[in-house]
Amino acid sequence: MGTIMTSAPGKVILLGEHAVVFGQPAISLAIDLRLQLRMRMGHRSSLNGHPLSERTHPYITHSIKHLWNGGALELETSSAFPSGSGLGSSAAVTTATLAALMSISGNEISQESIARHAFEVESEVQGRASPIDTSTATHGEGILIDTRPGADLLWHISRDVREWYIHHCSVPRMTLVVGFTGISSPTGPQVAKVKRYVDHSSFAREVVEEIGSLTVDGLKCLRDQNMVGLGELMTRDHKLLAILGVSCQALDKLVEAALPHSYGAKLTGSGGGGSMIALTDKPEQVAEGIKNKGGTPFIVHTGVPGVRKEMI
Ligand code: MEV
Repeated sequence: MGTIMTSAPGKVILLGEHAVVFGQPAISLAIDLRLQLRMRMGHRSSLNGHPLSERTHPYITHSIKHLWNGGALELETSSAFPSGSGLGSSAAVTTATLAALMSISGNEISQESIARHAFEVESEVQGRASPIDTSTATHGEGILIDTRPGADLLWHISRDVREWYIHHCSVPRMTLVVGFTGISSPTGPQVAKVKRYVDHSSFAREVVEEIGSLTVDGLKCLRDQNMVGLGELMTRDHKLLAILGVSCQALDKLVEAALPHSYGAKLTGSGGGGSMIALTDKPEQVAEGIKNKGGTPFIVHTGVPGVRKEMI
């Protein structure tokens, strides 16, 4: 078996991050920034020439434990988006590794199986998480996570008393501007912080429910291609996430810089740093505003495929 190459997309959460961990709905979109992974059998397990270790490469080593009994593997990755940027780099590397492992073992790549294993891997590494990032990297396009099964159901994932029904969500081709704060922020601590707040405060629980209900409204806007309505909901969602304590000065500054030329803007992913997104039809102006405030802009598009094997 020679070299296998796979790729997986980054993602942005349009509405509903954090609330989804508590069983509320959320909408997530794959974006046209991809991570690529090459895998081949070798003499010493390595990533980009460095020895593979559980401490520094937990997502890859856990993925290997799930699907591989064979010998040493040499891996190389390259990514169009930075890790810790809130754009789903751990989900992308996990799903791309799992797809490569299926392929190098001579098996068909199964989206549902990748989504299930990838959720387990993320949970093992991060602690409490939802399947939103891993299912988006797996399926691509758009994902709606809901508490009930509906049309376009892809798969159902449960953990303790929580259940997530993951649906395909049709999305129009949209242009978004991502603004990376440059602050790398892992998901686990942000999720734990919100859990502590929600466990102790009925106000925080109400905020989580309000995020859930604006996500349902957002789904209707998306279906009607109502960008004005969707943008307003995104900006409201940002304010609610700030109340939950997951925004920061750098994110607020980039959201403010984007708003004059956008339908709406919000942090995306776990917050505490990472990135924000703006929905706009003036991407160059928004990107300029983000750059002027010290952020790194990426103009991205939706409607891209999930994890897949690439021809080499
Ligand atoms: C991270 O991209 C999204 C969070 O809701 C965590 C999760 O759902 O696993 C913050």
